Amino acid sequence: MSRKPIIAGNWKMNKTAAEAREFVEAVKLNIPSNELVDTVIGSPALFIEGMKKGVRNTELKVAAQNCYFEDFGAFTGENSPATLAALEVDYVIIGHSERRDYFHETDEDINKKAHAIFKNGMTPIICCGESLETYEAGKAEEFVGAQVSAALKDLTADQVASLVLAYEPIWAIGTGKSATQDDAQKMCKAVRDVVAADFGQEVADKVRVQYGGSVKPENIAEYMACPDVDGALVGGASLEADSFLALLDFVK
Ligand code: PGA
Repeated sequence: MSRKPIIAGNWKMNKTAAEAREFVEAVKLNIPSNELVDTVIGSPALFIEGMKKGVRNTELKVAAQNCYFEDFGAFTGENSPATLAALEVDYVIIGHSERRDYFHETDEDINKKAHAIFKNGMTPIICCGESLETYEAGKAEEFVGAQVSAALKDLTADQVASLVLAYEPIWAIGTGKSATQDDAQKMCKAVRDVVAADFGQEVADKVRVQYGGSVKPENIAEYMACPDVDGALVGGASLEADSFLALLDFVK
């Protein structure tokens, strides 16, 4: 089963609009064709409109890092999925462990967001991942499996086949301590197996599963060589243009 790789940068709360513009100018002519790989930048919402202008006629796609599950209303400070869709945002990252930990997002919120993102014609990148404590207790598969099932609840098979799941062990995020190739493969397969159990093998064969957590130009090829790893969600190493482009070298 061949699935198109997807490499997504997650800038988190970094860069000004001017820095984002400079980055796009520096990378835009060197992004491989969308026929080979989907290349995405997860931008802060504040300058998504500028990002979308900057990437026009390039192979770069733009993701939001979060959105709310209602389209409009009295939700001070939230970002509307309908507004993101009107800006032609391609993907929305949801369920990142930082959102779950610092902003108390629940599996139920994440499921509602997934429905709202599809309703607005965008594609969710749904993050999951266990803490060090859960990993050391040997409960990673069970824990992550429950997160995935809950996030996908009541989506259609076609929706699930089209979305992206990002397995990111919390202990590997921003720590420089990446998962071994074997752990990444085992967990991405476990994520795919949950999709197979809930939606059937055909859907599981289509859904793309990323690994995330201290992915860098030096280790990305190792992960991309795993049969169940279809891409990477990259924080730190996506911030500089040279490093971001080097993440795409595996395509050549
Ligand atoms: P990192 O972040 O690559 O800096 O570890 C990954 C993420 O949080 O998506």
